[in-house]
Amino acid sequence: MRVGFYQFAPEFGAVELNRDRIASVLSGADVDLLVFPELATSGYLLTAKEELAELAEPIPGPTTELLQRIAAQREVFAAVGLPERDGDAFYNSAVMVGPKGVMAHYRKAHLFFEEKLYFRPGDTPFPLCEVKGVKVGLLICYDHMFPEAARTLALQGAQLIVHPSNLVMPGKGQLTTRVRAMENRLFWVLANRWGIEERGAKKLSYTGASQIVAPDGSLLARAPAEGDALEIAEIDPAQALDKRVTKLNDLFEDRRPELYRL
Ligand code: ACM
Repeated sequence: MRVGFYQFAPEFGAVELNRDRIASVLSGADVDLLVFPELATSGYLLTAKEELAELAEPIPGPTTELLQRIAAQREVFAAVGLPERDGDAFYNSAVMVGPKGVMAHYRKAHLFFEEKLYFRPGDTPFPLCEVKGVKVGLLICYDHMFPEAARTLALQGAQLIVHPSNLVMPGKGQLTTRVRAMENRLFWVLANRWGIEERGAKKLSYTGASQIVAPDGSLLARAPAEGDALEIAEIDPAQALDKRVTKLNDLFEDRRPELYRL
């Protein structure tokens, strides 16, 4: 299976432009599953909730319908983050889209910093779907700090976690996602954005360095901290079904849930 990420710097507010960019990369990539960053259609640095009225869209909606058309033409799958509108609520969402449409829909459960001012936290289960016979889970950015999220997906059989992100703390998410991959023995695609957003008095720098991680925590691909990057790796998802770390240790069989207080 060929999995990859497209790291770029979405332009704030330019939904049509960002969406066209995503569509054009998906149309040209030699890949089975391509992952794009968090809030990739809109940009990230909101300054007022009212801005979401312009930027957010329903799911399914224009972005998922466009991706579905490309997916159907090319037998590819795309995971992308976007702001969602549902009635008068806004969610920081991500979707998996394939030839038949939306296969997984996730509303970010752990909201980071000022996202709490603008978005409602998701309260649906962490989603799992099947892409070409492989079980794939979906998380968004700050979820990486909650090992329970990745573990929940892993215990349900996820072989790969895809992770649209707008990481701002240098090195942190790149480190934790390698650990999350290793402790669950699964593949991980972190699609982060790069660049600086400045809006009025607010400014954020994003850390790029998107990566594809193997079940032993090693890097299969890594983008630079700055610049657009399309990286693809050939993976054998069957490797993620084997949870053994030594002849006498199986990561899942060795768990002691009776001792855990969660
Ligand atoms: C983040 O959750 N965008 C840091």
